[in-house]
Amino acid sequence: KDSDFCSIVVFGASGDLAYKKTFPALFGLFKNEFLPPQIQIIGYARSKMAHDDFIQRVTQKIKAESDEDKAAFKKFVGLLSYVQGKYDEADSYKNLAKAIAKNEKTGQISRIFYMAIPPSVFTDAANNIKAHCYLKDAKAENRLVVEKPFGKDSESSRALAQDLAKNWSEEEIYRIDHYLGKEMVKNLMVLRFANVLFGAVWHRHYIHNVQISFKEKFGTEGRGGYFDEFGILRDVMQNHMMQILCHFAMERPSSLSASDIHDEKVKVLRAISPLRQDDVLLGQYTAGTVDGQSQPGYLDDDGVPNDSQTPTFAAAAFHIHNERWEGVPFILRAGKALNETKTEIRVQFADVAGNIFPCANGKKAPARNELVIRVQPKEAVYMKFMNKKPGLSQEAVETELDLNYDSRYADVKIPDAYEALLLDVMRGDHANFVRNDELKAAWAIFTPLLHQIDRGEIKPAKYAFGSRGPDGLDAFVERHGFLRSTSY
Ligand code: BG6
Repeated sequence: KDSDFCSIVVFGASGDLAYKKTFPALFGLFKNEFLPPQIQIIGYARSKMAHDDFIQRVTQKIKAESDEDKAAFKKFVGLLSYVQGKYDEADSYKNLAKAIAKNEKTGQISRIFYMAIPPSVFTDAANNIKAHCYLKDAKAENRLVVEKPFGKDSESSRALAQDLAKNWSEEEIYRIDHYLGKEMVKNLMVLRFANVLFGAVWHRHYIHNVQISFKEKFGTEGRGGYFDEFGILRDVMQNHMMQILCHFAMERPSSLSASDIHDEKVKVLRAISPLRQDDVLLGQYTAGTVDGQSQPGYLDDDGVPNDSQTPTFAAAAFHIHNERWEGVPFILRAGKALNETKTEIRVQFADVAGNIFPCANGKKAPARNELVIRVQPKEAVYMKFMNKKPGLSQEAVETELDLNYDSRYADVKIPDAYEALLLDVMRGDHANFVRNDELKAAWAIFTPLLHQIDRGEIKPAKYAFGSRGPDGLDAFVERHGFLRSTSY
């Protein structure tokens, strides 16, 4: 719903997320005139900062090169202000409340509280905001936007949810999983439900296995302290990658409403059995050499204990026990300090039965069809399929049908995930946020295994910085069905 005046308060304004993502996204929206005309943006954090230092800090990643952008940037900066305060002290919030109210006009008002703060101060902040900064006027809207981590396992996540629920309704809470704001993740529903071509084969009868990969070619780089408490399964797999899996696997929602979409996602998650030790391969990176440059190992990162057994890589096979997916392995793999940065979904279709064609390299059967949806970098959808080798041969050879966003949508700037999500918050649309029961179902899949890892019962294998991952990866994915011999 449009409001007459909107106040956005960014908690954790001196942190990384704020200057890397939140403020650039707000500027992107402002520049394209998506922010309400009457708005103020307040940064809040513990650090003492002069106004100019605050502006400098939160806008350091914003690029404004054209004259138009420079003019927009100047106006944008005019909307920003900073309030210093503590997270656990009522007076700080009273002070903040005054600062918010000072510029607000009368009419329909909305307040968006965006929490990019550490879990240790989370509950204090949420309670204090409710006590001191919340507008009780029936016409007003209050929204609490929260960033992960949403706990570390089922129990801590439930406790956090209960704490939040004391003061905030589910309607008011927006749990961010920024992968839900990514163009290609949002595209999954369109590909499936607006194309009979894909919709018809989205089924265990035609799909042999699905691989979802998340690879980064950089290590933890100074985030070791945070990362070591969480590890790759909690950092990206339980959240970002499971969201991709849900959008891939869920049944068609009755509509695009948030509750219809969430209902379908929860059903998928509840049909997945908890991960067992046999279903995973864990790794931790060691020092390596990339392009002639030596790169540090995970244990060299400040904040990481020398004997840490935290995985920085994980491959895991998931099984969805329902009519559509029984027997189709979903192989997810995620890792830091690998050979490339890429997130993609690779669908491998079933083998063709009764082949009659000669195939390339003397193979007895056509290669399996594959559909690849590349989330990043360079969004793309392509299909690998068999085609007659042009010319006088009857040979079947593999080729590609290719939709590359760079060339097909050259004029379109794909918005950053945070732009898309912040706009959704302002519009009051929950569809691309995580509902509490979803979170609960996702943690249930991971918690027993995470506890085993935490107790040191499963140790990660080593892999070198810049490699494809630990030895045994190919054998692992083959064992779980990927690229099993296609000859028969
Ligand atoms: C974050 C993780 O949630 O997602 C990071 O904490 C990870 O470890 C990041 O690097 C990846 O996001 P993106 O949008 O850069 O792919």
